[in-house]
Amino acid sequence: MAKVIHEYFENKDGLLYVDGVSALKLAKEFDTPLYVMSERRIRDNFRCLSETLTKHYSKVRIYYSAKANTSLSVLKILLSEGSCVDAVSPGEVYLALKAGFPSEKILFTGTSVRDDELRFLVETNVTINVDSLSQLKRLLKFHVPDLVSVRVNPEVGAGHHEHVVTGGKASKFGIWQGDVVEAYRLAKKVGVKKFGIQMHIGSGNLTVEPYLEAMEKQLQIAGHVKNELGVDFEFIDIGGGVGVPYRPEEKPLDIDEFAERILELFKNKTREYELGEPWIYLEPGRFIVCDAVVLLTAVNTVKVTPFKKFVGVDAGFNTLIRPAMYGSYHPIVVANKLNEPEKDIYDVAGPLCESGDILARDRKLPKIEEGDLLAVLNAGAYGFSMSSQYNSRPRCAEVLVKDGEYALVRERETLETLLERQTLPPWLK
Ligand code: LLP
Repeated sequence: MAKVIHEYFENKDGLLYVDGVSALKLAKEFDTPLYVMSERRIRDNFRCLSETLTKHYSKVRIYYSAKANTSLSVLKILLSEGSCVDAVSPGEVYLALKAGFPSEKILFTGTSVRDDELRFLVETNVTINVDSLSQLKRLLKFHVPDLVSVRVNPEVGAGHHEHVVTGGKASKFGIWQGDVVEAYRLAKKVGVKKFGIQMHIGSGNLTVEPYLEAMEKQLQIAGHVKNELGVDFEFIDIGGGVGVPYRPEEKPLDIDEFAERILELFKNKTREYELGEPWIYLEPGRFIVCDAVVLLTAVNTVKVTPFKKFVGVDAGFNTLIRPAMYGSYHPIVVANKLNEPEKDIYDVAGPLCESGDILARDRKLPKIEEGDLLAVLNAGAYGFSMSSQYNSRPRCAEVLVKDGEYALVRERETLETLLERQTLPPWLK
């Protein structure tokens, strides 16, 4: 029998239900590919992290990393849970503001930031984690913020794929330790009064050790800055990256243990370096939304060759790029055949004209027929947000489900969408 991952995705007589709503009904009503999000699961994931962390230290703030999923509904849900937002572009700041987040709940942690973007951040009055000395100098030329936070490269990185490791000698992110004091000195000299320090080691971490190693470094750097310049830190931001298991053999990160060990170290080191009692910030993206969303995709072709069985579906890497980009594994179930034995081995292939457009290789599934509905699980993080119109395929729709109710929260694009914002030069008209 096909396993259904958790209580939000029920198996009712072999059919998949998302938080009380039939996946087949949603696919029929809104067509496929379709992202289906469980509001309850998003709330529960947020609460799990937030409540577990605050058990060990009261000054914890969670900045949801919007890049994982920027649906307005997701942002609204998290706003109502008390979350803050970590944004990496003016677009994400704009969406967070539109969702109702006040600017004091928005952090900006972008890289390679333009001057006009810096002006936008100053106008919107969000807190900036500065990524380079260049960025800081350009910012201070026209504005002295109340608070400056520096993203340091702790020279420790970790992640599920080399593309998502963001700390270490080869990383483009953050200010290397040799320049950190200089950054705070510049800010202090022009009259900045408050300070923060940030790092982000990478994404998809299922162990606590890399955090401990990087935090030791970050806190040591903070202690050094305090010693040199006498500045105090309002907050210490340890970034995001808390992983979620995708493969059957992967174990979830034990959040209790994670919270206990990082906060133990935090308390010890802030005491040792006489950093007072700063806030600790976390920037989780994936952990909050990943397993709250399934991608429904219909089977349109079954192709059997002497070498392979291909299931052709209507979602490709234009809809979910993670398998093509990182070789990521996503669990897949057949939404209308949950009780049927998984006895055949298939490659699940998308509709794009690229050989790399494969959602899953050599996957054991029930016997597949045209018209079946597949559900790609763990599709909530970096799913829709990384989707594109490649091969001129309009982007798909999103539905939000809450305890048996549902609503379309993003309309499917149409063929006309493909022409939007295109113009012809006079000589081709
Ligand atoms: N903070 C910063 C500064 C980040 O760059 C990121 C992710 C996060 C927080 C949140 O990381 P999370 O908790 O979601 O792991 N597209 C890739 C992941 C790229 C992550 C980039 N930065 C994927 O699909 O695996």
